[in-house]
Amino acid sequence: MNISIRPEEPDDIDEIYELNRLVFGQDTEARLVDHIRQGPNFIPQLSLVAYSDEKLIGYILFSKIAITNGDFKYESLGVTSMVVHPEFRKRGVGAKLLTVGLQKATGLDYADVFVLGHEFYFPKFGFLPAARWNIRPPFEVPAEVFMALELIPNALKNVSGIVEFPIEFSVI
Ligand SMILES: CC(C)(COP(=O)(O)OP(=O)(O)OC[C@H]1O[C@@H](n2cnc3c(N)ncnc32)[C@H](O)[C@@H]1OP(=O)(O)O)[C@@H](O)C(=O)NCCC(=O)NCCS
Repeated sequence: MNISIRPEEPDDIDEIYELNRLVFGQDTEARLVDHIRQGPNFIPQLSLVAYSDEKLIGYILFSKIAITNGDFKYESLGVTSMVVHPEFRKRGVGAKLLTVGLQKATGLDYADVFVLGHEFYFPKFGFLPAARWNIRPPFEVPAEVFMALELIPNALKNVSGIVEFPIEFSVI
């Protein structure tokens, strides 16, 4: 299957919304993506679409997050949305979106990436439980589903704390 990955363009926005709605069966995630797009944590180069034969079949969004520990605040990236059309799964579309996104994030000098996701999927790309750095989300989840990847070796060595999700997450 021919898959191409590129940053989103204005004409993709409605299709990205529809893909999120199709995948999750409701609007919450689709609206979250729209809110992030309008806010300060959006990075246009890291909002990526996957196309095959002129059909939008996948989407990934990395947006800015912060880890706080008292007065200490560390800016990082989170995988905020990752969806592949159900008819096009298990063919590497997700892997391609993720690897292209991680390369672009590295090129933009981001040092690490966090994800709340499947513990059997993301470790294949090097993600490890964030608890190993004593970094936790602001809510209770099994330790293995909240993961981080160092794009620069040892980037998280001196970082610990709670991930602060941006305000957009509270408006959905
Ligand atoms: C998670 C998700 C994005 C993965 O998308 P995908 O395109 O199916 O991902 P991939 O094809 O890269 O990998 C999926 C599986 O297919 C396998 N696979 C990859 N390429 C393959 C190929 N050419 N042939 C057969 N299998 C393949 C992978 O090994 C992987 O196996 P696993 O299920 O045992 O881990 C997709 O399932 C999805 O949209 N889920 C709902 C939304 C969601 O949960 N998002 C994640 C939240 S962060």
